[in-house]
Amino acid sequence: MSKKILITGGLGYIGSHTAVELINEGYQVVILDDLSNSSLDVLDGIEQITGVRPEFVKVDMRDKQALNQFFDNYQVDGVIHFSAFKAVGESVEKPLAYYENNLNALVYLLQELTVRNIRPFIFSSSCTVYGQADELPVTEKAPVKPAESPYGFTKQVGEIIIRDTVRATKLKAIALRYFNPIGAHPTAIIGELPLGIPQNLVPFITQTAIGLRAELSVFGNDYPTPDGTAIRDYIHVVDLAKAHIAALERLLNQSNKENFEIFNIGTGKGSSVLEVIQTFEKVSGQKLNYKIVSRRTGDVVAAYANTALANKELRWKAKSSLEEALASAWAWELKIRA
Ligand code: UD1
Repeated sequence: MSKKILITGGLGYIGSHTAVELINEGYQVVILDDLSNSSLDVLDGIEQITGVRPEFVKVDMRDKQALNQFFDNYQVDGVIHFSAFKAVGESVEKPLAYYENNLNALVYLLQELTVRNIRPFIFSSSCTVYGQADELPVTEKAPVKPAESPYGFTKQVGEIIIRDTVRATKLKAIALRYFNPIGAHPTAIIGELPLGIPQNLVPFITQTAIGLRAELSVFGNDYPTPDGTAIRDYIHVVDLAKAHIAALERLLNQSNKENFEIFNIGTGKGSSVLEVIQTFEKVSGQKLNYKIVSRRTGDVVAAYANTALANKELRWKAKSSLEEALASAWAWELKIRA
C-alpha cells in the first residue's frame, strides 16, 4: 500500500502544486482546508492534472475538536503543513488573528501527531526569518533576525515550537525556508489565486499586463543594488513543490541526520525587480506599465539562497529558469481571465 500523506492547506497555492507532485509520485493524498483563501475548483484541477481525486475534508484547524475528529477518521503516514495566513501587511493590522491561525493551529496539529505517533512533519517556513541577512547568498546558519511583522514572527515561532516538540517527543520534522515562490503548473490548470489586490510582485505584474490593474508600482530604485531595485530569489512553484517530496522522503527513509532539520529552498540566483519586469516583457510579449515609487516599509534590499545544503542533503535542485516561471504565471493569468 502506498503511504497516505495529509496536506493541510492543500487547496492553496503551494499546497495544491505539492498535492499534484505527491500523487504523481504514487502517494495517496488527503487534503484538509478551510476554504478561507481557496476554492473547491482546485480539487477538480488536481484531479484533472493527475487523474486522481484526492480525499478532501473541510476543517478549520483552530477548531481543536474538529482536528481531533479528523485524525480519528483518517490514518495518515505523514503531514505537510501549509495552512496559514500569509499576508504581511494584514498581519500588522490583525496580529491576533495571525497568532491564532498560524500558531494555535500548529500546536493543535502537533498535539495530534505526537499523541498518535505520526512522525514525518514538513513545515512551510520562509526566508523572512533572516530579515536582511549580513551575508549573501544566505545559508541556514545565518542568524534569525527580529521579525518585521507578525506574519514573519509566526514563522520564527513556528520553527521553535517544532524544535521543542522534536526534542521532547518522537516527532521528526523538516522546515523548508522558501524564498519567493512564483509561477503556475505547466498545464495552467492550477496556479496562484490572490484575493483582492495582489501584494506580491508577480501576480501584480500579470494582473497589470492583462489590464486588471492600471500600473505596477516598483517599490524603490535607490537600493544599493546594480539597478537600484531590490533583489529576490524567485523559485518556480513546481520546483518548490518537489522539494517537499524530497523532504518527506528523507524522513520516511530515515536518511535525516537530525530529527529537526531546516533547509533553504530557492534557486540561488537573485533577480532585481527591474530584471523580473524585463524578463516578463520578453516572455509575454507585453509592455508593462510601471512607475517607480518609494520603498515599501519592511522590505529588505536583497535576499537569495545558498542552496548547497538542500542540493546535497535533499538531492533536490530548482530546475526552472525565471523565464519559465514567468511564462507559466502569464499562461495561468491568461487562462483564468479567458
Ligand atoms: C513577501 C513577504 C515575505 C513573505 C512572502 C510570501 C514582505 C515584506 N515580505 O516577500 O515575508 O514570505 O511575501 O509570498 O511583504 N514589489 C514591487 N511592487 C509590487 C510588489 C512587490 O516593487 O507591487 C517588490 C518588493 O518591493 C520586493 C519584490 O518586489 O522587492 C518582491 O516582493 P513580494 O513579491 O511582495 O515578495 P517579498 O516582499 O520578497
